[in-house]
Amino acid sequence: MATQRLDKFLATQGGLTRSAAKQAIRAGQALVDGDPARDPAQKIDPLIQEIILDGAQVVYREFLYLMLHKPAGVLTATTDRTRQTVLDLVPPPLRRPGLSPVGRLDRDTTGLLLLTDDGDFAHRLISPKSGVEKCYLATVDADLDASQPARFAAGVTLADGTRCRPSRLEIVSPRLARITVCEGKYHQIKRMLGAVGYGVDALHRIRVGGLELPPDLAPGSCRLLTEKDRKNAEKPGFYEF
Ligand code: URA
Repeated sequence: MATQRLDKFLATQGGLTRSAAKQAIRAGQALVDGDPARDPAQKIDPLIQEIILDGAQVVYREFLYLMLHKPAGVLTATTDRTRQTVLDLVPPPLRRPGLSPVGRLDRDTTGLLLLTDDGDFAHRLISPKSGVEKCYLATVDADLDASQPARFAAGVTLADGTRCRPSRLEIVSPRLARITVCEGKYHQIKRMLGAVGYGVDALHRIRVGGLELPPDLAPGSCRLLTEKDRKNAEKPGFYEF
């Protein structure tokens, strides 16, 4: 790998701004192969040298892949002037330029949200052509009737005439549905349920492709995806739509 400036490396891989990286280096907080660095312009090769910042190793990753358990009340955006965004929930050492949510969940929707700076990966998950399933638990405001699964299987037509692709609705309990779609139209689940006469009291995403929200990932927490998680997320649908 080509060498690069230490301050640039810490800014792209260590979650610091460029000026914070410079300051940290000048303050002796960064070690290169065990020796304190003092010059922000020092050239390093991240693949062969060990870089430590504040006692923790900064590992080179070409792309970053994270899963977040999105809590309610947080905006799916990278910045906002006043409101908390999903990026605010990413621990600072994992923040880097270009890190963005894959698709979006409404502010009141909870559950599995992926974030990455790998645009191709994000595109493959979002594109309706890939047919990656997104599965939600929806709590509705009236008892579900037994005709709904067939209506979803036929493809719901939204109030504005937009036709959705066939999807799957399973009645879990009278007011709880598990809904699986393989596209991502704006407010899709709420609009599909609205079109068949239900309001949504709560919406929670439990799966993207073959990747499920881990039960031990608390709301507001995030973690790195393993390679297996990444492959699972891209798995084509389980269901025949
Ligand atoms: N569909 C919705 O209506 N809202 C979401 O947040 C996700 C899917």
